[in-house]
Amino acid sequence: MATPHIGAEPGEIAPAVLMPGDPKRADRIAAAILDQPRVVSDIRGNKAYTGTVQGKPLSVMASGMGMPTITLYATELYRFFGVQRIIRVGTMGGISPTVAVGDVVIATGAHTSSSMNELRVPGVHFSAVADFHLAAAAWAAAAGDPHVKMGVVFSSDHFYRQVPGQADALLAHGVLGVEMEAAALFGTAAGEGGAALAVLTISDHLTTPSTDMTAAEREQNFGRALNLAVAAALS
Ligand code: HPA
Repeated sequence: MATPHIGAEPGEIAPAVLMPGDPKRADRIAAAILDQPRVVSDIRGNKAYTGTVQGKPLSVMASGMGMPTITLYATELYRFFGVQRIIRVGTMGGISPTVAVGDVVIATGAHTSSSMNELRVPGVHFSAVADFHLAAAAWAAAAGDPHVKMGVVFSSDHFYRQVPGQADALLAHGVLGVEMEAAALFGTAAGEGGAALAVLTISDHLTTPSTDMTAAEREQNFGRALNLAVAAALS
């Protein structure tokens, strides 16, 4: 049965889904890594692909930007399509000087300014954490690569608004960077009985002067994140 936002039939989505933010990135990932990719959903310009990698089924579908959109896609995937694992492969702005543009962060947890997780359990400040086994598999696949870090991130509802003092306070609490989806994905996984991980490439840096990546660097660094995400998805 198709859902409001996913037009696939039951069984057409693999138990593991790679989830970039950008639908065009999903097109490119599917073309690059899936054997016999098939479009199984195409709603609002967001195609879901299913194929195989090393003989194992894998799907690729974008989340769009922000916590409401990743929540509705992830909820439908876990609840109606039998999905067990969702691995976000996205970008993040660096906050900590321990991460540089081009590095990849395996997010073990995500603080958030969004109310979405706050509403899950009455009276509780929800802890949005990644699935340990997925994080461990991605970390093992990194094989000591010094450009791969593991740690806590911040999922913001705002891309442009700078809250005075916020970046400094996040830095003082060991947060590696800011993105816009991980906390909601982790909360949705918890609520739906699924597993989730976010593997995030640092695309820009908020507190350290740095140059943007060239197009070639962007693809190379994204390839590094993709390899870790695939390793986690198939583990
Ligand atoms: N803020 C939020 N999300 C992001 C950023 C940022 O600076 N960079 C990449 N994703």
